[in-house]
Amino acid sequence: MKIKNLAILFSGNGSNLENLYLHLHNKIFDGMKINIPLALSSRRDAYGIKRCEYLNLKCEILSSKDYKDKSVEEYDARLIEILQSYNIDLVVLAGFMRILSDRFCQTFCALNIHPSILPLFKGSNAIIESYQSDMKIAGVSVHFVSKELDSGILVEQDIIHKIEGESLESFEARIHSLEYKIYPKAILKVLSKCKI
Ligand code: GAR
Repeated sequence: MKIKNLAILFSGNGSNLENLYLHLHNKIFDGMKINIPLALSSRRDAYGIKRCEYLNLKCEILSSKDYKDKSVEEYDARLIEILQSYNIDLVVLAGFMRILSDRFCQTFCALNIHPSILPLFKGSNAIIESYQSDMKIAGVSVHFVSKELDSGILVEQDIIHKIEGESLESFEARIHSLEYKIYPKAILKVLSKCKI
């Protein structure tokens, strides 16, 4: 049976990481087994590291702070080295708050999730910006990673309808629920359709 090795990269809370691990690790889909041997955090204080501990998922830390006087290329050279040592077929970004270099994008097939209907509301304030906008809908996008922030070919998008008077907390929770639904689906779509 074909085995596909996925790595999950994160910088913060890690709720998508946990959801992906629980839904995909060691599962067989379409005659192919998914293995998630590794997670990697760009922050030492990310809550996702605790999640890795209780999930028993190996977590490497490659701290952005340690590279603050170095280039993106230097950080990515080390990142590539780590990922290659685990034979990773697909890299999954789940709240990984770094822009990736050309070299990284040429080396790995990678997916990212973003909490908006791209190309609207790129960047790190997407949820609040779409909450405050006068649009009637909001949503989530999964796309291939390119060297530009929150860009790259779209794989999956889905929407929610805004509810009048809804609090930001409730809106945010509905956005995250949608993420948990569409990210595993998008990953399976890419694994089965692309030659990874
Ligand atoms: C998620 O909402 C994800 O879409 C977003 O970071 C959050 C991470 O949450 N990503 C971006 O904004 C990428 N530009 P999590 O750590 O709980 O999975």
